[in-house]
Amino acid sequence: MLSDRFGRTIDYLRISVTDRCDLRCSYCIPKGFKGFEEPENWLTFDEISRVVAAFARLGTRRFRLTGGEPLLRRNLPALAASLSALPGVEDLSLSTNATQLSQHAQALRDAGVRRINVSLDSLRGECVTSITGSDSLGKVLSGLATASRIGFDAIKINMVPMQGINDGDIEAMVAFCIEHGFILRLIEAMPMGSTGQHTVGLNLQTLLGQLQPRFGLLPSTASLGGGPARYWRTPDGKFTLGLITPISQHFCATCNRVRLSVDGTLYMCLGQEERFELRPLLRAGCSDAELEAAIRAAIELKPEKHEFLEKPARVVRFMSMTGG
Ligand code: 5AD
Ligand code: SF4
Repeated sequence: MLSDRFGRTIDYLRISVTDRCDLRCSYCIPKGFKGFEEPENWLTFDEISRVVAAFARLGTRRFRLTGGEPLLRRNLPALAASLSALPGVEDLSLSTNATQLSQHAQALRDAGVRRINVSLDSLRGECVTSITGSDSLGKVLSGLATASRIGFDAIKINMVPMQGINDGDIEAMVAFCIEHGFILRLIEAMPMGSTGQHTVGLNLQTLLGQLQPRFGLLPSTASLGGGPARYWRTPDGKFTLGLITPISQHFCATCNRVRLSVDGTLYMCLGQEERFELRPLLRAGCSDAELEAAIRAAIELKPEKHEFLEKPARVVRFMSMTGG
C-alpha cells in the first residue's frame, strides 16, 4: 500500500485524459482560455495504462477517468476497457458533463465503467446556459436518461451551489434525483484559478440545516466510493445526499488520492503546488521498478492540507487543468 508522510493511505487515482472541455462553467475554465496542453504532451493510452498498472501494483484499487471533459478524448471506452482489464483495478468510474454521454454510455458500461458522476448545476435551461456558456441542458438530460436505462451501479449528480445563481434550484434537484434514483452531491466552490476565486459558493453546513427538516434527512455512515462526501438519507432510503465541504469543514486528514493530469504530472493536492512529472521518465523508457519508485517519491511530496481559506489566491490553475 502507498502511504504518505502523514500516515494516509493513497488508494485512489484520478486520471485526467484531457484538459479540454466543451463547456465553460463559470467556476472552472475561463472564457476565451487558450492555454490547453499540446497533443504531443498528452499521455498516450499506453502510457496511461502503464501508470495505472504501476499504481495497481502498489496497492491502488480505485481509479476515475476525468478531465476537462473525458469524452472529448477519442476512443475513451477503449482506454476504459484496457484499464479495467489490468490486475488490481477493482473500481473504474467516470466524471463527465454528460453532453456526449448518450452516445457513449453503453460502450463505457461494456468497458467496465461501473459508476458515473455527472456535473449539473440546475434543471432550468437558462440557468445552465448562463453557468456553462452553452445551451447544454437537453443533451445532459438525455445522457442521464441513457445512462439510467443502461444501468450503472451508481449515478451521482455533482452540483456546485452558488449564491444568487442556482441556490434556489436545490430542492428541484433533490426532487429530480429522488424521481430517477440519482445520488445528489453538493460541492462547495473552491478558489481554483481566477474563475474559482470569483465564485461565491454556499456554506453547506447552513444549507444542510434547511434541507434536513424539509426532507427528514438522517446521517448515513455510507462512504459510497470512499471519497470525502458525507452522506445523508431519507428514512425510506430512496434518496441519498452527499455534501463535499472542502471549505467549511475540510477533510484533508483523510485524503486518499492523487491526480494524474493529461501531460503526465502527478498532482498531490488540488490546493497546493506539489507535483511530480512522470512523462519525461515514461518517454525515456524507464523500467517498471523506476516508475514505481517515482510514484513512491511523488507520494512523499503530498502536503498535509490545502490552504484555500488561508491563501485563497494561491492556486492559479483551475480545476480542469489538474483533473476535477
Ligand atoms: N470548485 C468546486 N468544484 C469545481 N468543479 C470545477 N471547478 C470547481 C471549483 N472551482 C467541479 C465541477 C465538476 C467536477 C469535475 O469539478 O462541478 O462536477
Ligand atoms: Fe467542463 Fe467540468 Fe470544468 Fe464545467 S466543471 S467547464 S463541465 S471541466
